[in-house]
Amino acid sequence: MVISNFFKNKFSEKEGVNIYDNDDKYTENFSKQWRDFSLTQVDSFNKTNISEDYLNELMFNNIENLHNKNVLEIGCGSGRFTEHIIKKAKMCVAVDLSKSIFYNVSKNSKNLILIKSDFLNLEIKEKFDIVICRGVLQHTPFPNNSILKLFDFVKNDGMVYFDYYKKPKLGILHPKYLFWRPILRNIFNYNDFKIFLEKNITKLIMFKNIIRKITFNSNFISDTIIPIWDFRENKYNISKKLFENWTILDTLDGIYAKFDYPKSNIEIINLLKKNKIKIINNNQNKNFICGKLFEENF
Ligand SMILES: C[S@@+](CC[C@H](N)C(=O)[O-])C[C@H]1O[C@@H](n2cnc3c(N)ncnc32)[C@H](O)[C@@H]1O
Repeated sequence: MVISNFFKNKFSEKEGVNIYDNDDKYTENFSKQWRDFSLTQVDSFNKTNISEDYLNELMFNNIENLHNKNVLEIGCGSGRFTEHIIKKAKMCVAVDLSKSIFYNVSKNSKNLILIKSDFLNLEIKEKFDIVICRGVLQHTPFPNNSILKLFDFVKNDGMVYFDYYKKPKLGILHPKYLFWRPILRNIFNYNDFKIFLEKNITKLIMFKNIIRKITFNSNFISDTIIPIWDFRENKYNISKKLFENWTILDTLDGIYAKFDYPKSNIEIINLLKKNKIKIINNNQNKNFICGKLFEENF
């Protein structure tokens, strides 16, 4: 597989990772969060199938499509999905700009190539059967370019599966964007806020649950008063410790990502249509989309 990027001379190799971007650029928060929580969402560590089920849902219940395919995973983090992709795929190339790539839980697998690079600068001569990108695009500086870039990597008959954080009904007037992100980032740096959360997470979750109860289950009111993003998947019976760690991770992710540009489903669909991308599946509720190239784009 021939891989290069615009900065060809900067290529190096460290701890089994191919490095095209030494600099983390705007992803320093992710380097820290995946260092601190590299195993929190990893099924093989937790003995759950939360991440596998999530990947299956992202792929519109077609996870078996990964069988024997060449797969590109963009923004892999510490590899909660990589470990499932490599079990099925022929080959997986996993890319991340942050140092998370060094903590990828599947690091030593034979059918995995790890690349530290900004995917927007990455050029891979061979095209992929499947491109997967989850939880990444809203955190890039120019999300429309990032969405369209995914389609540069896919074969003519290949599929791109991606998600995009949904714009709240209030848009950027939602308390997360209006005040919690600016206020908390001003008061605390990442490390101090992590320590604060670790000390207080049990109480914060308890207060949030009380607020939810007395406001007839209003997530909006409880999110406005207590800015923690608690993992609300009741169908999984996970331990209190895991639930708390997951909540701390999601909260740090929500507050410290440098860019966080949510979009509505219709904004994304219109962008794809304008750029002649064929929409194969669209989960409007979750903003999960599967697209492929139209023949005239070949
Ligand atoms: C919220 S995390 C999601 C990680 C993983 N996909 C998951 O769902 O758990 C977003 C990841 O995208 C990576 N990322 C953001 N911009 C990127 C870029 N331009 N190129 C490559 N990776 C990028 C970040 O470093 C981070 O690890």
